[in-house]
Amino acid sequence: MDKRIVIVTGASAGIGAATAIRLAKDFSGLVLVARRQQELELTATAVKRSGATPLVVPADLRQPPAADEVVAETLRQFDRIDAVVNIAGAVPQIHLFEMTDDQWIDGAEMKLHGARRLTVRAWPALKQTKGSVIFTSGNSALEPKPAFAAVATINAAIVALAKAFAEQGIIDGVQVNSILPGPVMTDRRTGFLKKWAATNNMRPEEATSRFLSASHIERYGQPEELAECMAFLLSPMTKWMTGAAIRMDGGEVKGI
Ligand SMILES: NC(=O)c1ccc[n+]([C@@H]2O[C@H](COP(=O)([O-])OP(=O)(O)OC[C@H]3O[C@@H](n4cnc5c(N)ncnc54)[C@H](OP(=O)(O)O)[C@@H]3O)[C@@H](O)[C@H]2O)c1
Repeated sequence: MDKRIVIVTGASAGIGAATAIRLAKDFSGLVLVARRQQELELTATAVKRSGATPLVVPADLRQPPAADEVVAETLRQFDRIDAVVNIAGAVPQIHLFEMTDDQWIDGAEMKLHGARRLTVRAWPALKQTKGSVIFTSGNSALEPKPAFAAVATINAAIVALAKAFAEQGIIDGVQVNSILPGPVMTDRRTGFLKKWAATNNMRPEEATSRFLSASHIERYGQPEELAECMAFLLSPMTKWMTGAAIRMDGGEVKGI
């Protein structure tokens, strides 16, 4: 396999871990970024099984120096960057009237500015390789509600940010797209369902099936399905696709 290096954020859990493991089939080096080192090491072990080389970089992406550190470590070890996949996200679902300024700022620092800073820092290396970037948004961007106003607002901002990077990418030869997942069964999703169950006086299993019928979809997505979509967007088959916002959601969004 040619030397191809990808940075995956959120690689300690859920969609990020599944994506890193899937991309180990297509990339020779995987840079695994999140805060929890032990969980990142588990992903690294799975990456090695595919014959790729993992580099674990524990980092809190809310902290501005983290982006510089991730890019510097990547270039020190691998000398190039072919793709950046921004998946890390932890914006809390709190009602519009209850969410504090600090919670808003923290959510935006993590998911929006964490991804923005990393992409800006990696951009010169991506220009050299004519590389690719993916941003992870979410369907909430398309249907904001008071109960998850911050998640929706930040996800909408991510789609706009990805589009701005994509416009620059037309000039610089860097492909940029965003993905909007629907409800995917990860720790984050089970956390939401537990909270929803508690608020509505239901058992978690009841909340899990009620959420599905309320969303008019047949089942939850699996992280591995999102990982396949990420791999497709980084494959030579989609090189002409840029500035797109791709939904993968089992049909959750009913509009066109
Ligand atoms: N699951 C869904 O239904 C769904 C739907 C729409 C959109 N999404 C989006 O998809 C992405 C992944 O979601 P998921 O469900 O896989 O979530 P998850 O299982 O909770 O994983 C979130 C990941 O983000 C990392 N992370 C959180 N805060 C961080 C920080 N400050 N610095 C670095 N990394 C941080 C976590 O690692 P550490 O805790 O180790 O730092 C973890 O690897 C998120 O952006 C989410 O908004 C998910």
